[in-house]
Amino acid sequence: MRMDWKDPDMFEAGNHGNKPFAVRVPALVVTRGGKDRLNFLTAMWFTLTGFEPSRMIVAIQKKTLTYDLLLERGEFVMSAPSDEMMEVVVFAGYISGHDVDKWQAAGLTAVRPSKISVPLIGEAIGNVEYRVVQQIPFDEEMDLFVGEVLATHIRKGLRKASSIVRIRIRCSIWARSTALTANRSANSMLILQGSNPPTTSRRS
Ligand SMILES: Cc1cc2nc3c(=O)[nH]c(=O)nc-3n(C[C@H](O)[C@H](O)[C@H](O)COP(=O)(O)O)c2cc1C
Repeated sequence: MRMDWKDPDMFEAGNHGNKPFAVRVPALVVTRGGKDRLNFLTAMWFTLTGFEPSRMIVAIQKKTLTYDLLLERGEFVMSAPSDEMMEVVVFAGYISGHDVDKWQAAGLTAVRPSKISVPLIGEAIGNVEYRVVQQIPFDEEMDLFVGEVLATHIRKGLRKASSIVRIRIRCSIWARSTALTANRSANSMLILQGSNPPTTSRRS
């Protein structure tokens, strides 16, 4: 049967599969390994799910150091970066802890958590402590990790939701506008820190 539907004149094809939903705000996923090795990566493939308990689902690539450390300790912190941390966000998204001690290079402040053994980031506008409650195979490249919220820490003075939303929107705009130059700026940050950029990138 032919359906009497209107022609899609008001739309044109998008060049990116998830474009209408692509406004994402970056987060940092902090992990800790043996010998007190701290690491963090930039994440945008995550979603919050459920009220009580509240959970976070984040897709983590198997090639990352974060993946190894999540398996090792089963805990992580997600940090909402401030505008001032955007260089760090780019850095953490293009450089792997397999190649560089990113925590040391970025000079972040490790703050004592309340429920787990992974530190909060002192410079962030908010930090949430999670325990991994499920690891779901997704595809060849990545698994989904489900984290249950154990504690939430919001920077003093930002308790009003609108303040956080404003900062997060600025971070989102920044992340989009710097996407093209991001790799270069990640490397320049390393040079500023006195390290050499890795010659082989693990990002495909
Ligand atoms: C904007 C942005 C978003 C990213 N989102 C994710 C993500 O959600 N999951 C993931 O596994 N990698 C993501 N990446 C890539 C990792 O941040 C990158 O591979 C990082 O170097 C891995 O660090 P690690 O090996 O120290 O864990 C993203 C990168 C960028 C630039």
